[in-house]
Amino acid sequence: MKKPFQGRVVCITGAGRGLGRALAEAFSAEGASLVLGARTSSEIDELASRLGNALAVQTDVRVAEDLARLVDAAVAEFGRLDVMVNNAGLAVYGPVEGTSPDAVDAMIDTNVKGVIYGSQAAFRVMKEQKSGLIVNISSIAGKLHLPNEAVYNASKWAVNGFTGTLRLEAAPHNVRVSCVCPGGIDTPFWRAMDFYPFPEGVEPAVDFMRPEEVAQSVVELARKSDRYVVPEMVMVPLVRG
Ligand SMILES: NC(=O)c1ccc[n+]([C@@H]2O[C@H](COP(=O)([O-])OP(=O)(O)OC[C@H]3O[C@@H](n4cnc5c(N)ncnc54)[C@H](OP(=O)(O)O)[C@@H]3O)[C@@H](O)[C@H]2O)c1
Repeated sequence: MKKPFQGRVVCITGAGRGLGRALAEAFSAEGASLVLGARTSSEIDELASRLGNALAVQTDVRVAEDLARLVDAAVAEFGRLDVMVNNAGLAVYGPVEGTSPDAVDAMIDTNVKGVIYGSQAAFRVMKEQKSGLIVNISSIAGKLHLPNEAVYNASKWAVNGFTGTLRLEAAPHNVRVSCVCPGGIDTPFWRAMDFYPFPEGVEPAVDFMRPEEVAQSVVELARKSDRYVVPEMVMVPLVRG
């Protein structure tokens, strides 16, 4: 039996670990052809060869040309681009006054510019195709004000703002644009930090959503009719969300 995403091409940034890897696994299980981007090529190479029907392209989302190259590789290899998930992102938490210029640059360049460049590259192809879905992974931090997350908040509010306007510009071209705003997910994201914004006693492995659960929701979003668009999907853990 034909799987729902057979013959459809899905490109994912930040695909080497965490939510990006879970997205790759979930779309692959539905039969999609995959194009995987991240900076650490060993991780995306391993994933692409394990899943099959997948291309790994070393990509730094802070660089517009890298995203153009990623999308061009999708079209060159598989002939089209159906879903672009701009997922790569990071956080450096802490009080505003202690946030270094390097940390500000890392969050703004990766979370904001990365999503903008990825969306531009994908829209260029999808507009021509007259079809496609762009999913930008924001966060619940893009809807709330959270102490010790000011710059991360700013980056994700920017993602929500950009994505909302792109949705309006893309709709006349039959291209859908959705923003996904998850609460805590148990991924390596948290292990890369030395300052945690959540209350003592909260454990990502116990209290947060699993990456596979969030990935499955994104797959379900991508399976919806192309006659309507879901502007925003918000999900938080049931307890302590
Ligand atoms: N974990 C959570 O609780 C949570 C909650 C809400 C939203 N989110 C959002 O979900 C997304 C994925 O987060 P995650 O938890 O899966 O993080 P993660 O486990 O730290 O994985 C991040 C992925 O992004 C890639 N990446 C980082 N910088 C990049 C760059 N400049 N260019 C290309 N790829 C880059 C990383 O690979 P390389 O380092 O090899 O490039 C890695 O594959 C992010 O946008 C995050 O803000 C996470």
